[in-house]
Amino acid sequence: MRNCAAAETVQLAQSAPTRDCFQLAAMTDIDVYSRRRAALLAQMQSGIAIVPTAPQRARNRDSEYLYRYDSYFYYLCGFPEPDAVLVLLAGAAPQSLLFCREKNLERETWDGFRYGPGAAREAFGVDAAFPIGQLDEKLPALMANQPDLHYAAGMDPDWDARIIGWLNQVRAQSRTGVSAPQRICDVRAILDELRLIKDEHELTLMRRAAAISAGAHRRAMRATRPGRMEYEIEAELLYEFRRHGAQFPAYWPIVAGGANACVLHYSDNSARLDDGALLLIDAGCELDGYASDITRSFPVNGKFSGPQKDIYELVLAAQAAAIAATRPGAAWDGPHEAAVRVLAQGMIDFGLCSGSLDQVLETGDYRRFYMHRTGHWLGLDVHDAGEYKLEGKWRPLVPGMTLTVEPGCYIRPGDGVPKDYWNIGVRIEDDVLVSADGCDVITAETPKSIAAIEALVGRD
Ligand code: GLY
Ligand code: MN
Ligand code: MN
Repeated sequence: MRNCAAAETVQLAQSAPTRDCFQLAAMTDIDVYSRRRAALLAQMQSGIAIVPTAPQRARNRDSEYLYRYDSYFYYLCGFPEPDAVLVLLAGAAPQSLLFCREKNLERETWDGFRYGPGAAREAFGVDAAFPIGQLDEKLPALMANQPDLHYAAGMDPDWDARIIGWLNQVRAQSRTGVSAPQRICDVRAILDELRLIKDEHELTLMRRAAAISAGAHRRAMRATRPGRMEYEIEAELLYEFRRHGAQFPAYWPIVAGGANACVLHYSDNSARLDDGALLLIDAGCELDGYASDITRSFPVNGKFSGPQKDIYELVLAAQAAAIAATRPGAAWDGPHEAAVRVLAQGMIDFGLCSGSLDQVLETGDYRRFYMHRTGHWLGLDVHDAGEYKLEGKWRPLVPGMTLTVEPGCYIRPGDGVPKDYWNIGVRIEDDVLVSADGCDVITAETPKSIAAIEALVGRD
């Protein structure tokens, strides 16, 4: 497989740096993806699944966004090109079929390598591969006499129309004794549950993505000083991601100095960093499809003021409580509840909220300063697939789940808000893997204690 960043990761894990990238990746990844397809096929039991990848999208005239495959499709086959569809047939003799672009030396001269069906079949271990141009001809026949059709209904109106068109073609043959699928099932219901528990291949990539992002945050801390622009720090992050082979930022970095840190989705990254302000950085890379997601908040001049220290230590304590509550069997909401209790008590202690802890929790007054939840699933998508509740109850955590733990406190100026705390915005976010007896913080290499941060900021 021509996916050399993946191969680099596998090489690192196996300490085999001299082995050929193509061979190594092909040997390991084929099994990973065929195991995932087998798991989906077993749960489908019967019928046909159709899983297209994402389209190439135009940015503006003659210019396209960098291509990013669909996460479900990539999870099942690792094929990186656009214009591809995976078709799975469940039953006694399950089959995986890939439709992809044909080899085209002229297009490859302009746009780069394409596998073509022959090489794709071999490199990605599917049972058969066909030119994408044969999709309309082959799909009605593949759907015929299948009891169920599994696809992500409603994800893309163009695919909805095309798939319903094939379904109607099969229905039109009913007088010849052909039957069309009677049940349409959302293939994401099975895939979301599979994606929720990470396999070793995914965890290797997620640990590597986490390590790259931790290095980027250290670089950003070293580069920060009063007078620098937010975008200069953003550039340090992006440089560090890319020079380690990460293909993308997993989301656009938030580099928010001073009052900007209280804007949760700030992305301008265009202001000057003031002496005495805090800087909040929320940034993580995507490596071979897998996201990392780290936030750190630290003083631009390298020294926390008294009020900044109050709020920072409060959020740090809330995060410690949430991490301690992240263990198998705990409900999804457990870490959030733990963080909120600590934050609400601190808000009372610092005069941001008034009343007893129970009152502040009951009325939700703490939400004036902590208005988001404490985490989300993490994986191929930064806000990854998977339900948070089962039958109306927060689901229990299970080993192999990966999530973020990211409490914060954001204090905008306002009536009754102590002035010392105005414009302080702090979030501390780590990525964790639920383990057999607790959790493993895979982003722990990112400095977090006040001493570690003060020792690093501005030390370029
Ligand atoms: N960076 C996105 C998030 O923290 O959810
Ligand atoms: Mn997050
Ligand atoms: Mn984040």
